[in-house]
Amino acid sequence: MVAIQTDSLVKRYGTQTAVDNVSITVEDGEIFGFLGTNGAGKSTTMMILTTLLKPTSGSAHVVGYDVVANPKQVRKNIGYVQQDTAVDEFLSGRDNLALQARLSHIPAGIRSARIDDMLAMVDLKERADDATVKYSGGMRKRLDIAGGLLHRPKVLFLDEPTVGLDIQTRQKIWEYIRRVHKEYNMTIFLSTHYMEEADKLCDRIGIIDSGRIRTVDSPSALKSSLGSEVITLQAAGSHKELAESVGTLSGVREISVDAEKITIYAYDGRAVIPRVFEESARLGTTIESISLKQPTLDDVFITYTGHDLRDDEQGYDRKKAYRKARELRA
Ligand SMILES: Nc1ncnc2c1ncn2[C@@H]1O[C@H](COP(=O)(O)OP(=O)(O)OP(=O)(O)O)[C@@H](O)[C@H]1O
Ligand SMILES: [Mg+2]
Repeated sequence: MVAIQTDSLVKRYGTQTAVDNVSITVEDGEIFGFLGTNGAGKSTTMMILTTLLKPTSGSAHVVGYDVVANPKQVRKNIGYVQQDTAVDEFLSGRDNLALQARLSHIPAGIRSARIDDMLAMVDLKERADDATVKYSGGMRKRLDIAGGLLHRPKVLFLDEPTVGLDIQTRQKIWEYIRRVHKEYNMTIFLSTHYMEEADKLCDRIGIIDSGRIRTVDSPSALKSSLGSEVITLQAAGSHKELAESVGTLSGVREISVDAEKITIYAYDGRAVIPRVFEESARLGTTIESISLKQPTLDDVFITYTGHDLRDDEQGYDRKKAYRKARELRA
């Protein structure tokens, strides 16, 4: 079954196209990640999918209902945790959830048990009766997530659920997401600009940039789609001679050599490494160090968008490296 489907979805704000022809399908029970930088169009897409915004053109279905024609049915079946936390600071965590439970039409008879369940799910039971003004950012986010889960939606939308939180808190939130996904077999659609989050949490990732979907696949398929692993080695003896003979091995797509190291670009590094040792033994050189680097999701992002998620200095080198990999692939 398909949980979410969009067909040529477009949203324009004046002359600016925030969502540009987005067509994606999310299967039932998937954790789908929407990965993109600031302004990529993640929240706008999610607001259309959650019926808060009408598309300029194209269509979207969530749990089989058209978001424009049947917004009520869509809302009944989804939970939506917005990018900015929505807790009422003057109420306790429990009272925030009670308010939300009434808004979500949860029958009075099961409300308080459901609230207790959700507070336990996000580890807030002990602080449930404190005013949320005393909660940390991570606690507020957890309360928000609990609120989105109260009516046991089929699909949960999480817009940047861990932005601005420290790594420990982020990992905790990943744990809750995994737990609800597993316990309720919930479909989860989350947006993020954290590579690690997309990589570790998501079954599939859609990379969105300037409103357009650049690619969709599982993290591992995306990484191997780059088809380029990098082996770096240092040998005692002539690098040049060794590089020449390694360059003729099958599976080696490119090799570069300087006084310090030999860099080998290979489709399958693990298959190439033993043959590199054989060649060095044949030539009587000794390999002093060798390492294998597989492409990361950062590399994938750069390859498909032409820019880095982070504007650091390292990014510049990676950008260059992956422009090169792209040229090689072409
Ligand atoms: N109400 C609006 N009016 C005009 N332009 C808007 C509006 N909302 C968003 N935009 C523009 O649409 C583009 C996409 O914005 P959106 O909020 O969907 O991006 P995002 O991927 O969620 O970014 P972020 O990571 O910063 O949350 C941006 O260029 C933004 O400036
Ligand atoms: Mg956003």
